[in-house]
Amino acid sequence: MRSFVNPQDLGDLQKAMQEALEIKNDRFKYQHLGKNKTLMMIFFNNSLRTRLSTQKAAMNLGMNVIVLDVNAGAWKLETERGVIMDGDKAEHLLEAIPVMACYCDMIGVRSFAGLSDREYDYAETVLNQFLKYSGKPVFAMETATVHPLQAFADLITMEESWAKDNGHSLDNFDFNHKKMKAVLTWAPHCRALPQAVPNSYVQWMLAAPDVELVVTHPHGYELDPKFLEYTNPATGEVRRAVVEYDQRKAFEGADFIYAKNWSCPGVTEPADYGKILSKDMSWTVDTEHMSWTNNGKFLHCLPVRRGLIVTDDVIESPNSLVIPEAANREISCSVVIKRMLESL
Ligand code: CP
Repeated sequence: MRSFVNPQDLGDLQKAMQEALEIKNDRFKYQHLGKNKTLMMIFFNNSLRTRLSTQKAAMNLGMNVIVLDVNAGAWKLETERGVIMDGDKAEHLLEAIPVMACYCDMIGVRSFAGLSDREYDYAETVLNQFLKYSGKPVFAMETATVHPLQAFADLITMEESWAKDNGHSLDNFDFNHKKMKAVLTWAPHCRALPQAVPNSYVQWMLAAPDVELVVTHPHGYELDPKFLEYTNPATGEVRRAVVEYDQRKAFEGADFIYAKNWSCPGVTEPADYGKILSKDMSWTVDTEHMSWTNNGKFLHCLPVRRGLIVTDDVIESPNSLVIPEAANREISCSVVIKRMLESL
């Protein structure tokens, strides 16, 4: 595997799930693969979970790890071509990428959406330059439009929880069991946030054949249509997310509630891209919201702002999966790095 951006990059998702569960049982089984190999993690933005879980996964696989915080100690990087570099950015990404690639065997990139230029963000301008010019396997550690390591960890967490609650074994994992209803709900926030997490969550839930997905949000927050539809690369089957604007209706009978804020994706009104259109606190997930579900489990990628996205009672309840979800970031990343090491 030379790139990891979308679920299709893993090929057969059932096999990837089996591999994840195998690695979870023995995290050091493939330690030989990374001997004398170096991962470079490049952060244009802050991180806690991605930074730690990716480094841990790479170390489990026997790799050396270099972490570069571009905005803390490196030259500031210009990412657009054709500009006169007379500002504070001393180096261009087009030189920096091949230079950084000289010192490693694999690259992880975190570069968030700027939320001012939809075309630039949705073209994945920074990630694509790494894919094009590094000559190394590259994986997304949350980019302008996707966060696949998070969504894969979310899926692992849901499958584990579902198996435990329904008394079925995870040995020789397969998707062939009763479908679970998952709801992605928008929730209010004080700052404009990117759409990467909801985009990937939708993509990965549509890729998992045992998930019935409903997306709920106020009008104006429609996600980009390319994420609301998934074509299975093996069968050609197309699955589409159901969008329900009535949050209560969406929650009814749900087995999993995935809460997340995102700013306006600019689908219906391009001029609103990146804007906060609503701070409606009736969308905050509280115990009443959870009472509409089928004893549903609560998920959030973290970091989360309590009182806005979710109440203390819900996030601290026994039905909250936020910590196992974060723990599974090490597992999802281990599968990705292992696949990339195998391709070297
Ligand atoms: N969920 C997640 O990616 O967390 P960080 O931003 O802390 O890495």
